[in-house]
Amino acid sequence: MLLKLLTLADFRNWATLEWQPAPGLNVITGANAEGKSNLLEAIFFLASGKSFRTHRDADLARFGSSGFAVGARIERRAGELSLVLRWDRARGKTLTLDRTEHPRLADLFGQVTAVCFSPEDLSLVKGPPEVRRHALNLLLLQVSRPYYYHLREYNRVLAQRNAYLKRLPPTASSELALAVWDEELALHGAELILRRHAALAELARWADERHRELSGGHELRISYVPSVPLSEPATLAEAKAAFLQELEQKRREELRRGITLSGPQRDEINFSIGGRDLRSYGSQGEQRTAALAWKLAELEFIRAHTGEMPLLLLDDVYSELDPKRQAYLTREARRGSQTFLTSAEDLELAFPDAASWRVAAGELKPH
Ligand SMILES: Nc1ncnc2c1ncn2[C@@H]1O[C@H](COP(=O)(O)OP(=O)(O)O)[C@@H](O)[C@H]1O
Ligand SMILES: [Mg+2]
Repeated sequence: MLLKLLTLADFRNWATLEWQPAPGLNVITGANAEGKSNLLEAIFFLASGKSFRTHRDADLARFGSSGFAVGARIERRAGELSLVLRWDRARGKTLTLDRTEHPRLADLFGQVTAVCFSPEDLSLVKGPPEVRRHALNLLLLQVSRPYYYHLREYNRVLAQRNAYLKRLPPTASSELALAVWDEELALHGAELILRRHAALAELARWADERHRELSGGHELRISYVPSVPLSEPATLAEAKAAFLQELEQKRREELRRGITLSGPQRDEINFSIGGRDLRSYGSQGEQRTAALAWKLAELEFIRAHTGEMPLLLLDDVYSELDPKRQAYLTREARRGSQTFLTSAEDLELAFPDAASWRVAAGELKPH
């Protein structure tokens, strides 16, 4: 996949931008706070409909403006496509594909695919579980519309069920009333659990491979710990039944505490080396290497599921790595069809043959 043109309007500190990046490796340098990360954030926004730095779309609108737009022309094996994703306070997000407005945001997913690695991704290993679930969601919705659909529906039912739980007194009739939500919750929940299970099995394999190469042979284990215990391999009906049973068992406690206590919103993903949990016992270096291995596994995952290499966005991570890992990443960056690498340091010497760009004073120029 190739990003041939990127246009921005009022996105973060970018008032306007029209940029034609090169195929292959694009190195973007500039002083701090000039807008390098914002640029990669915009590209990732086209892939996932989300920022990798904030949950609030309003944060992305340039200070003082009421909305923003990110547009692109992309080339894929299937042909060229132009897309624009706009946001404004009144309408929220609107999507235009080849000049036709699409009412459903779901039509965005799968058009542009991207993997982003930034310093924040250290928290992929050491942060709370929602960071890992979020990373997995952002990956899976790029390659699977059904995943996006079930995630959205699950979250909708969960929010309704939780709102209901807060109001109900802990009585037997409340237990019955609550059960009306369970069927739908368990249906979408089981879909998510099985899809996460399958995806993590694949990701874990690639991440381990990459990790061995990066670390001189150490095995990285990534394991899925679903909040609803599953006997493997499970069918959809079995996963749903297990979920319903779990809900049944916890119903009384849920009424007491006023919140749904089981389901994919409580799933965990564990990283370990040699039986040692990296979240609690990993050094910063080990955590960074594991996060990098995961990201490189994401590349393989997307390629395997779409038949094309995604865009690779490397935000400010190059200088943080030691020379061996830098060399490895450089190799990976060249393997992809298009890579965007930002750095505050000049990297001309490290990448003499890359397309080189410089960000300053709200403009992006060849360097
Ligand atoms: N919504 C916004 N409107 C205008 N400027 C913003 C907005 N959000 C962030 N910025 C500015 O963007 C700059 C940071 O850009 P960033 O891309 O993170 O810099 P860097 O080049 O260091 O990666 C900061 O000066 C910040 O104030
Ligand atoms: Mg930055």
